[in-house]
Amino acid sequence: MNTPVEGFSKLSKTEKIDWIAEHCTKDPIASKALLEQYWNEDPEVQKVHDEFIENTLSNYYLPFAVAPNFLLNGKFYAIPMVIEESSVVAAASNAAKFWLSRGGFTSEIIGTEKVGQVHFMFHGNADKLPSFFAQLKPKLISGVSAITKNMEKRGGGIIDIELRSLDNKLKGYHQLHCTFETLDAMGANFINSCLEQFAKTLKSEAKTYAAFTPEEAEVEVVMSILSNYVPQCLVKAAVSCPISDLDQAGISGQEFAHKIVRAVEIAKVEPHRAVTHNKGIMNGVDAVVLATGNDFRAIEAGVHAYAAKNGHYSSLTHAKIEDGIFSFWIELPLALGTVGGLTSLHPMVKLALEILGEPTAQELMQVVAVAGLAQNFAALRSLVTTGIQKGHMKMHLMNMLNQMGASESEKKQLVNYFKDHTVTNASVKEALEKIQSQ
Ligand code: MEV
Repeated sequence: MNTPVEGFSKLSKTEKIDWIAEHCTKDPIASKALLEQYWNEDPEVQKVHDEFIENTLSNYYLPFAVAPNFLLNGKFYAIPMVIEESSVVAAASNAAKFWLSRGGFTSEIIGTEKVGQVHFMFHGNADKLPSFFAQLKPKLISGVSAITKNMEKRGGGIIDIELRSLDNKLKGYHQLHCTFETLDAMGANFINSCLEQFAKTLKSEAKTYAAFTPEEAEVEVVMSILSNYVPQCLVKAAVSCPISDLDQAGISGQEFAHKIVRAVEIAKVEPHRAVTHNKGIMNGVDAVVLATGNDFRAIEAGVHAYAAKNGHYSSLTHAKIEDGIFSFWIELPLALGTVGGLTSLHPMVKLALEILGEPTAQELMQVVAVAGLAQNFAALRSLVTTGIQKGHMKMHLMNMLNQMGASESEKKQLVNYFKDHTVTNASVKEALEKIQSQ
């Protein structure tokens, strides 16, 4: 395909599929059949999915799993996870089980404040801005009363609006830095609607502010948008136990606890390790965020910015041994919703929330943080003891066997064989060929 297509979005779904199959695939008939095979058999359900985005051709499956036995603040959860990586759910389940017999997880909400900004340029005498802002602020708030009315009835709304001048970083640059409480909604639409109205009020009020010169009255609004950096929308999750309770096969609790603490210390000071350490945390976080229909890109961006909040990229988890007690915890900024967005549209998201017991956004923040902490614990536990490949390759074995076209009975025999043999691509291939030649 080396010509552009015009009016693609206006074609019907069938026409789009025909065009793509014809112009972009080697076997148009097979490609078309594959796209159609992944449609939901219920046309109403398919229509819901088609309408999430533009130019939908089909659905893209990822496994939907649960990691059971999470004891969190005294309550049991089976945590829904959507992820393709073979070892993640098994690792989460193992960590849940490990901590179940050691008191379970605890968590607490540190804050729920969301952020949005109106970025604007003002090229006049910036000393005039504070008094302009003082008389503007009540008008900004009253100007969005129609948008905030319902949110306020439920106890949310605008927390504050501040004028921030960043003139020293970029000449003429100022902003309205706004904070919001959006309760169980992630709040992106609410926040962006408020911000766009703030921007209109800012511009119109500047035009009539008596102390401004005609040039100063022309405030240039650059953009109005929520921020995915939400360091005040924060949750903490933790586990702890006496180090003697950490004794396990081949390693004393004392040694194990020290190794975990050391591994976390390394991730605190060394960015190459910190990124991988935090990636493991995000294996758990993203899987729950996806299962519950939240925006994992927003979460990723905010979490990684938080990991660099002290000027260098560092571990999101912390560990210590004090008075014979091992403590391991995480602090994460998580702007999540359990109402609005996909939560009431995607049937699997609805089910995920039902499995979690219809959580509030605050409860979901705690569950997600626990999934991240559990994932990190499971990874570090493997890394400082057996090494990661043992568990990883075992989980990957099934993928390899499927790729190599093994039959069900061959798979069964080989899963058994690899219980006490090392899994590598070559060893699996060799073992499969051996069975097939018998
Ligand atoms: C793999 O997806 C995640 C790990 O690399 C995390 C870590 O190294 O901590 C195992």
